[in-house]
This record gives sequence, structure tokens and C-alpha cells, in this order.
Amino acid sequence: MTSQFPHLIDLNDHPVTWWNGLLSLGQEIMQNPMLYANSCRGKIMGTLFYEPSTRTQMSFQTAMLRLGGTIIGFDNPQTSSVAKGENLKDTTKIVSGYSDVLVIRHPTVGAAKAAALTAECPVINAGDGGHLHPTQTLTDLLTLKCEKGTLSGLTIGLCGDLLNGRTVHSLCKAMSCYPNNHFIMISTKELAMPHYIKSIIHANGCTYEETFSLEEAIPKLDMLYMTRIQRERFASDEEYFAQKDTYILTPQKMKLAKKDMIVLHPLPRVDEIEIAVDDDPRALYFKQAKYGMYVRMALILTMLQSTATTELLSGTVHKGVCCPNPKCITNQEYYLPKSFTGTGTTLVCEYCDERLLLEH
Ligand code: NCD
Repeated sequence: MTSQFPHLIDLNDHPVTWWNGLLSLGQEIMQNPMLYANSCRGKIMGTLFYEPSTRTQMSFQTAMLRLGGTIIGFDNPQTSSVAKGENLKDTTKIVSGYSDVLVIRHPTVGAAKAAALTAECPVINAGDGGHLHPTQTLTDLLTLKCEKGTLSGLTIGLCGDLLNGRTVHSLCKAMSCYPNNHFIMISTKELAMPHYIKSIIHANGCTYEETFSLEEAIPKLDMLYMTRIQRERFASDEEYFAQKDTYILTPQKMKLAKKDMIVLHPLPRVDEIEIAVDDDPRALYFKQAKYGMYVRMALILTMLQSTATTELLSGTVHKGVCCPNPKCITNQEYYLPKSFTGTGTTLVCEYCDERLLLEH
């Protein structure tokens, strides 16, 4: 199914040249913000935040306001008709009809793609469950480009909740499209990087290794990407508390790192970086959040100017076949076409990337 609008659901739906264009525009806006102060005059951005957010929501909002546009939306679905039982399709249809661009964050995997299927304007994925977060990755890429001067040949450490952290999934998918990057995945066995992300890294020609030890990995890194243990994605508090505080970045551990290693974090931080690390000049996570506003300005502008169409579903609906992932949007919004790519006995859900083996 092809939509008549440009959407950003997954960065990898777009070519690397498109991302690079956004990064360059972001840098240009950063240098001359006043030149863009009226670029979106008369345009309206809708924001549907079904999940809590500080940076993503407010940086999108400030981005639109700094471009001269205006904003509508909710940050708590309980104050909208969602509380009365309205489905995602209807809410999206209505708010996208009021808006020129729609930004959506949702706790369910695949929700942004589902929204784009019915939207009457471009849709931007601001995080779909533990799946993807493409605009955080644009933020991370702009930070790396400005602070390291390159997006290739880097040794990238990813530490924390690599299973449920959508930011690290999008980041690996994107950074493995630039040559010679090496990933060191630092996590417990329970919170290891999903297999499908590791396959993408490998298929893109980059390399990775997995380790439990932050102390052993840190001296090798050009960038350390710390993440929060995603409490809201755990089945029980018991499982969360078993993982919490496994990794805490301290000034002592920073002593083991290269002089020019940078520390990023999508934020919010809970306990995984000690406050004392904030004073280290290599700690760039607050600066990173500001880069996010500029790259989102570039994205909004680009989406509003583009006339591109988007291929949303290219697979097949198989009679009686459902996605086995209980967190997939197709298991919550039953009207959605349950579309899978893949051939033979292996199918891949087009909303959440879950694999399914067909039995014959
Ligand atoms: C992240 C998110 O929402 O995925 N935050 C953000 O957007 N900057 C990371 C997190 O919540 O841990």
C-alpha cells in the first residue's frame, strides 16, 4: 500500500543521502536560525503523544514554533477521546485532517506505521514502543557529525537496555549504513540486542561484539551511548529490579576512556550516569538534546516541502496468519491488514519486524 504523503517511520525507508541532507540542513539552520524563522508560517503540526516525553515532544514543538508555524495536540491521551475508547485510526484521521504534519509517539510497536496508513498528512514516528525512534537517531547523527566530525570508522559502545531501547535499535540500523563502524554491545544476557538488529549490522558490512563488561569495553570506544533500563517495558517490577543499576557510569570509569571519547544518552537519565560525570567535558548528552531541536527543524521543513510518496506495506496478507508479537499494533487495532514480507516459511511482520515460521 502506497501513501500519497512522505512519512518518516523508519530512517532506513529513506536513502542515506536523504539523512545526510537533513544533517546539512540542520547545521545550516543552527548557524543561521533567523533565516528560517518564517519558513513554516501558516502551517500546523499535530502532536499525538500517547507516552510520556520531555525532549522529543518539546523539541518538536519548539522546532515548529521557531520555523514560524503553530502546534496542536495532546501529551496525555486520557484528556482526549482516546479515554472514551477511540481507536488509533479515527484519532489519526481526524487530527491529520487538521494538521500539515503529524508527530506520533505510542507505546505499541508499529503504531506510527499504522497511523500513516490512514493519515491525511505526513507522519513522523517519535517512538513506537521498544521498536524504533528515528528522530532520536537523527539527533545522534547530527551530534556525532558536529562533535566527532565523521559518521564512519567509529567504535560505538551501546550500554544498558539494548533489548527494549528503541533509540539503540534505530542508531545501529543507521550507523551500520556508514562504512567501517564497529559496535560493542554492553548488556546483560536478558537485555541483549535483538537478533534482527545484529543481522542488519552484519548485512550492512559492519562488525559487532557483545560483552557484559563496561570497564573492559570503555577504553576502546570513540563514543559511549548510555541508556536507561526501560522499566515500562518489563512484565514485572521484579524483573526490572533484577536489571536496574547493573551499569552506572562513574568518574572512575571515565578515567579508563580515551581523552576524546564522547558520552551520549537520549535521556531521561535515571541512575545509569552519576551526576558527577556531567562535569566531564566528554559528557555531551545535554548538548545532544539541543542538536535534536535543529535536526527536527530540518525534518519538519523537509517533510512539508516534499511531494514524495511512501510505500507503507509491500507484503502479503496470509489467510488466518497473525503476528506472534503481543506488543505489535496489529494485535491491538484489529482492523489493520496483517501484512508480512518474506517468502517460503519465514515471514516478517511489516509493522514490528517480528519473524514468524509458517508450519506446513
Ligand atoms: C528515549 C525514548 O523515549 O525512547 N527518550 C527520548 O526520546 N529522548 C529514551 C528513553 O526513554 O529512555
